[in-house]
Amino acid sequence: MKIGMLGAGEVALSVARHAVELGHEVLLSNHSGPEKLADALRTLGPKASAVTVVEAASAPVVLLATPWKTIEAVLKGLPDWNGRILIDATNPFLETIPKLVLADLGDQSASEIVAALAPGARVVKAFNNIVMTNFNAGAERENARRVLFVSGDDTEAKQLIADFITAMGFKTIDLGGLKIGGRMQQAGGPLAGHDFLISQ
Ligand SMILES: NC(=O)c1ccc[n+]([C@@H]2O[C@H](COP(=O)([O-])OP(=O)(O)OC[C@H]3O[C@@H](n4cnc5c(N)ncnc54)[C@H](OP(=O)(O)O)[C@@H]3O)[C@@H](O)[C@H]2O)c1
Repeated sequence: MKIGMLGAGEVALSVARHAVELGHEVLLSNHSGPEKLADALRTLGPKASAVTVVEAASAPVVLLATPWKTIEAVLKGLPDWNGRILIDATNPFLETIPKLVLADLGDQSASEIVAALAPGARVVKAFNNIVMTNFNAGAERENARRVLFVSGDDTEAKQLIADFITAMGFKTIDLGGLKIGGRMQQAGGPLAGHDFLISQ
């Protein structure tokens, strides 16, 4: 599968590494331009390339992995989604340094806001729950398997992303839709940031 990455920071590159290992093609995009991605491309190998945000967003599966404050700018002016899958890995932080400040989203989940900014996309919330140092430590720990959550309102899209994560070796748990499940796994929710393990 071809996966476009909106953002090429810690999350996007971590997911990209797993994706190329599984034989997928990844299209990386960032804010400061493709020349900044030379090291990442060398590390990821021939299955990875640097493209524009619009080209990355045109892939059948797209990962949104940029800071919360940028999502409106990133998702503005992209081609029609036409049912393409948008994986929302963001967490709704207004600030992260010197301390974490969560955005007040009212009664909406972060992914509902993302979905409203990407009309026609089938949005699946994933990868946001796990701290990347844990994700990068691998799927297994002490004879147990790390858990990643998925939430989404489109069953087929959610299953495809669950299968993608399972193929990486992680255990996947379906939390239901974007409103309830999304809130459970997003920063500030009860499942956020924990390193959940299931014994094998
Ligand atoms: N780090 C974690 O452990 C973790 C875990 C789960 C979820 N998250 C969430 O995932 C998201 C990404 O986190 P991260 O740690 O990967 O962030 P990061 O390392 O700071 O990377 C952010 C990326 O977004 C790009 N970007 C910023 N504005 C953009 C724009 N307007 N258009 C295109 N690309 C843009 C940046 O490009 P440039 O480098 O060119 O500026 C950079 O590649 C955040 O919402 C975060 O809360 C993080």
